[in-house]
Amino acid sequence: MAYALVTGASGGIGWALAKELAARKHDLLLLARSEESLKKNAQELRQRFNVQADYLVIDLSITDAALQVRSWLLEKSYDIDILINNAGFGSWGTLKELQRSELNQMMQLNMLTLADFCKVLLPNLEKNPRAYILNISSTASYQAVPTLTTYAATKAFVLLFSRGLRWELKDSPVSVSCLSPGTTSTGFIDRANMGILKEKAEKFSMEPEQVAKIAINGMLANKAEIIPGFVNWTTVKLVQLLPKVLPELIARNLYKTDK
Ligand SMILES: NC(=O)c1ccc[n+]([C@@H]2O[C@H](COP(=O)([O-])OP(=O)(O)OC[C@H]3O[C@@H](n4cnc5c(N)ncnc54)[C@H](OP(=O)(O)O)[C@@H]3O)[C@@H](O)[C@H]2O)c1
Repeated sequence: MAYALVTGASGGIGWALAKELAARKHDLLLLARSEESLKKNAQELRQRFNVQADYLVIDLSITDAALQVRSWLLEKSYDIDILINNAGFGSWGTLKELQRSELNQMMQLNMLTLADFCKVLLPNLEKNPRAYILNISSTASYQAVPTLTTYAATKAFVLLFSRGLRWELKDSPVSVSCLSPGTTSTGFIDRANMGILKEKAEKFSMEPEQVAKIAINGMLANKAEIIPGFVNWTTVKLVQLLPKVLPELIARNLYKTDK
């Protein structure tokens, strides 16, 4: 049986997506850097859901990550019919304030690795009569977000890349969907150094398990864009209707850094 490969499955949304698929009796391959969490998560999937689960400890912000993963799949004879490109992070601050290394790592992980995974693993997916790619973007992809400028731009890349690839693969067995969550209760806010906005964010936060259920339903229904939650969906629709400058001004006030 073919596996679902989930990047960034040591915690947060990726781990919730893995559990959601396991609950539907899909076998799982979990990728991230934190070995202890991956080991524990794979064990939990096997025991709780009675599925096959393995993991690979890998830093996905290196340029040849996709080639390493392809070699690992070949070596282990793992077939995949679901690819979920979830690993990603944001960094809060202006372009001036943020470190160049941090920005480059974000762009590599959020965009280049994601696109390369689709490119390199597509032949594996296409071997199956039906296969799925789910790329994780963000509601931030629908507008410019000052102080999350690069992050929002990486997620806009994910959205447009997914929509384009979806058309290219229209007559193939592989469907492509893009998930754009809003604020979700994970390690994301701490990783982005947005701790002081936590209280504000929590008012609108969704739980990763809620997001994952909607995401997998949407992916299996071959939806192009999946925006989980009524508030997130309405916000995106409003952003699309308003002159661009308005949501940009609101975002600028909301995310001011005062650094
Ligand atoms: N939470 C939100 O509010 C929110 C909103 C919109 C979109 N998103 C998107 O959702 C996705 C998942 O984020 P999350 O909220 O679940 O955040 P999270 O809790 O910080 O989880 C991020 C996951 O990505 C993995 N990861 C990070 N850097 C990595 C690297 N260099 N190599 C391999 N794995 C790496 C982490 O594992 P290790 O640290 O173990 O490597 C972890 O499993 C991201 O693409 C994020 O942009 C999140």
